Amino acid sequence: MKLHVALLPFFISICFINMSVNINAKSLCHEREQLLLLNMKHNLIFNTAKSQKLVYWNQSGDCCQWNGVACNKGRVIGLDLSDEFISGGLDNSSLYNLLYLQNLNLAHNSIHSLIPSKFGLLKNLRYLNLSNAGFQGQIPVEIGQLTKLSTLDLSTSFISQHRLKLQKPNIGMLLQNLTELEDLYLDGVMVSAIGKEWCYAISSLHKLQVLSMSSCNLSGPIDSSLSKLQLLSIVKLSLNNMSSPVPESLVNLSSLTTLQLRSCALTDVFPKGIFQIEKLMVLDVSDNQDLGGSLPNFPQDGYLQILNVSNTNFSGQLPGTISNLKQLSTLDLSNCQFDGTLPISLSRLTELVHLDLSFNNFSGPLPSLNKSRNLKYLSLFQNGFRGQITSTHWKGLLNLISINLGDNFFNGNVPATLFTLPFLQDLILAHNDFDGVLDEFQNASFSTLKFIDLSNNKLQGPIPMSFLHLRNLQYLHLSSNQFNGTIRLDMFQKLQNLLILGLSYNNLSVDGTFNDDHGLPSFPSLKNLYLGSCKLRQIPAFLRSQSQLVGLDLSNNQIQGMIPNWIWRFDNMLNMNLSNNFLTGMEGSFENLSCNAWMVDLHSNQLRASIPSFIRGAVHLDFSNK
Ligand SMILES: *[C@@H]1O[C@H](CO)[C@@H](O)[C@H](O)[C@H]1NC(C)=O
Ligand SMILES: *[C@@H]1O[C@H](CO)[C@@H](O)[C@H](O)[C@H]1NC(C)=O
Ligand SMILES: *[C@@H]1O[C@H](CO)[C@@H](O)[C@H](O)[C@H]1NC(C)=O
Ligand SMILES: *[C@@H]1O[C@H](CO)[C@@H](O)[C@H](O)[C@H]1NC(C)=O
Ligand SMILES: *[C@@H]1O[C@H](CO)[C@@H](O)[C@H](O)[C@H]1NC(C)=O
Ligand SMILES: *[C@@H]1O[C@H](CO)[C@@H](O)[C@H](O)[C@H]1NC(C)=O
Ligand SMILES: *[C@@H]1O[C@H](CO)[C@@H](O)[C@H](O)[C@H]1NC(C)=O
Ligand SMILES: *[C@@H]1O[C@H](CO)[C@@H](O)[C@H](O)[C@H]1NC(C)=O
Ligand SMILES: *[C@@H]1O[C@H](CO)[C@@H](O)[C@H](O)[C@H]1NC(C)=O
Ligand SMILES: *[C@@H]1O[C@H](CO)[C@@H](O)[C@H](O)[C@H]1NC(C)=O
Ligand SMILES: *[C@@H]1O[C@H](CO)[C@@H](O)[C@H](O)[C@H]1NC(C)=O
Ligand SMILES: *[C@@H]1O[C@H](CO)[C@@H](O)[C@H](O)[C@H]1NC(C)=O
Repeated sequence: MKLHVALLPFFISICFINMSVNINAKSLCHEREQLLLLNMKHNLIFNTAKSQKLVYWNQSGDCCQWNGVACNKGRVIGLDLSDEFISGGLDNSSLYNLLYLQNLNLAHNSIHSLIPSKFGLLKNLRYLNLSNAGFQGQIPVEIGQLTKLSTLDLSTSFISQHRLKLQKPNIGMLLQNLTELEDLYLDGVMVSAIGKEWCYAISSLHKLQVLSMSSCNLSGPIDSSLSKLQLLSIVKLSLNNMSSPVPESLVNLSSLTTLQLRSCALTDVFPKGIFQIEKLMVLDVSDNQDLGGSLPNFPQDGYLQILNVSNTNFSGQLPGTISNLKQLSTLDLSNCQFDGTLPISLSRLTELVHLDLSFNNFSGPLPSLNKSRNLKYLSLFQNGFRGQITSTHWKGLLNLISINLGDNFFNGNVPATLFTLPFLQDLILAHNDFDGVLDEFQNASFSTLKFIDLSNNKLQGPIPMSFLHLRNLQYLHLSSNQFNGTIRLDMFQKLQNLLILGLSYNNLSVDGTFNDDHGLPSFPSLKNLYLGSCKLRQIPAFLRSQSQLVGLDLSNNQIQGMIPNWIWRFDNMLNMNLSNNFLTGMEGSFENLSCNAWMVDLHSNQLRASIPSFIRGAVHLDFSNK
């Protein structure tokens, strides 16, 4: 269990009291305190069916033993009523008479009212936690009179119209006398401050260690006065519209362990020195499209665990010193302007869990990752990587959940071991130069694979029968390769979760005629079926019961005869392509038909009849004979 540091004194005092109760009956709860607690309970509105603490408070027993109550010498000094389903009854509460109270936690309740100004009476409070308690509106000035506070948490994770506000008093006034503050959480509070005002207010809190103010509607600039706060360790300011640079002086925050500035509309160049702050563990400057920068040489034995610069204008290469970050578990450089080859030293990052280099201009080979035993997510999508993916690269990477190598220039064989990784769900190798024959693989029926995309490569030979046992498979895209042989569609029926099947543009002969006179859909989940250029001679009859179909491609086959009437009866169809066949006409009557398809392509057939009016409503219609 993780205890927050600020809560420690609270828990220690519980233990202390427990011990002393056994030795010395004198530290039992004071009668007055017990009465105040019972009175408070009496006035509180809370859900007695769900309460885990309040509901058990009663006349009998020692109030210092009650759940959620902490005492010192018989006085109540701590109250933890978080998650008690409290919805009101705090206005005239005897809570405010518990004058010895030091720690108060009302987090995670649904008290939809203003924060009562009477909180200001609890002058001994050191820890006040009203996070996600449901309080709304302007924060009263009386909170600013709790001058002993070292932790103040007024954060909300649900941004609503009724969120807490700091307008009058503003943040400057609220914090003016709270000079003992070490941990300040105001996430989600609507803070009205002009320019550097909020920075000035914060930078007078000399003991501050935690500053958490994401989604506060702060505006920039971020002022260098913050760098005065030498104890500052955690800074979370994500989702504020700063429209400003990150001041160079922040490199002087030598205690910094976490810096989160996601989606802050940051500009200019990110100070390189910040990467080199000795204790830094988490750095997230993602989603700042106008923020440039490059990765520095990382110091020996750096502590960085999470580095996210995704969706910024960062550029340059990934330095070889990346391997100095021995604890690195998340490296997200996606959607930037990085280029160059990856350093061989990347192979030494043994703690890597999440590696995302997608949407950059990296090139060259992928270094072996077989020492990153914890790797779960790997995306290299849309780069210029080349070379082979040998099975030794993947040896022992048993934790992989997602592999995306799509849109690169990888070549050579696809190692069959990829299909047998025990937790793998997504395997995307599309748009590369992979070739050779895919081997059959073992234990397919235990596979967790859901998503396979091998399309647009040069894979040859038969489609491995092992695929037909991947029972969790939802997406199988094998189009635009050189697979050959004959394949019977009914063999895919074992894949009952299949949403999308793509076999188009191979050298396959697909046999879609099979006995399905049960009238139920053969593929209960199928939404998209791509069978372009599959040597079909007729429209597969089983399609008739696939009422969920959204997309159907039967183009470039040898389908002859009439278009069956039922084909116009798919309610959800968006895109149907029957072009480049030998279709000669349309079967049946068109009464009561309304074809909602967004696009119907019938061109290059031998249709002679005029276009039935019900199809004319379709937005895109290509009915030409060429
Ligand atoms: C009163 O409190 C005691 C001790 O906390 C508990 O065991 C008992 O069940 C409670 N009685 C009622 C009626 O809630
Ligand atoms: C609170 O108590 C005061 C005086 O005791 C009373 O006038 C007021 O109506 C009470 N308010 C509520 C909401 O109970
Ligand atoms: C406030 O209480 C909630 C619920 O117990 C907890 O998750 C949160 O970490 C607390 N905040 C602080 C600053 O201790
Ligand atoms: C802070 O303290 C000063 C001096 O005691 C006082 O004048 C001021 O009103 C206090 N501010 C707040 C917000 O309580
Ligand atoms: C958020 O801040 C901007 C100025 O930065 C202000 O115009 C806007 O009114 C604020 N939004 C709210 C809801 O107060
Ligand atoms: C962010 O602030 C800038 C400058 O104050 C303003 O032009 C821009 O519209 C704001 N963007 C958003 C999303 O509020
Ligand atoms: C960092 O602090 C030192 C000493 O206080 C000062 O000389 C230096 O100018 C500061 N650096 C920046 C970039 O503000
Ligand atoms: C990095 O940041 C982006 C944008 O904020 C986010 O979508 C992504 O999940 C983050 N990456 C990781 C690995 O957490
Ligand atoms: C991104 O950086 C390049 C130089 O690397 C620069 O030319 C371009 O203007 C920058 N784009 C933005 C949006 O800042
Ligand atoms: C990507 O890198 C290649 C060289 O590897 C270069 O020719 C190309 O211009 C780069 N593309 C972009 C968009 O920077
Ligand atoms: C890891 O990969 C390297 C490079 O491909 C290879 O030389 C080494 O034998 C592999 N190690 C294991 C345990 O497979
Ligand atoms: C299928 O492709 C493989 C590999 O290219 C080849 O050896 C085989 O002869 C082909 N089979 C057919 C029936 O074309």
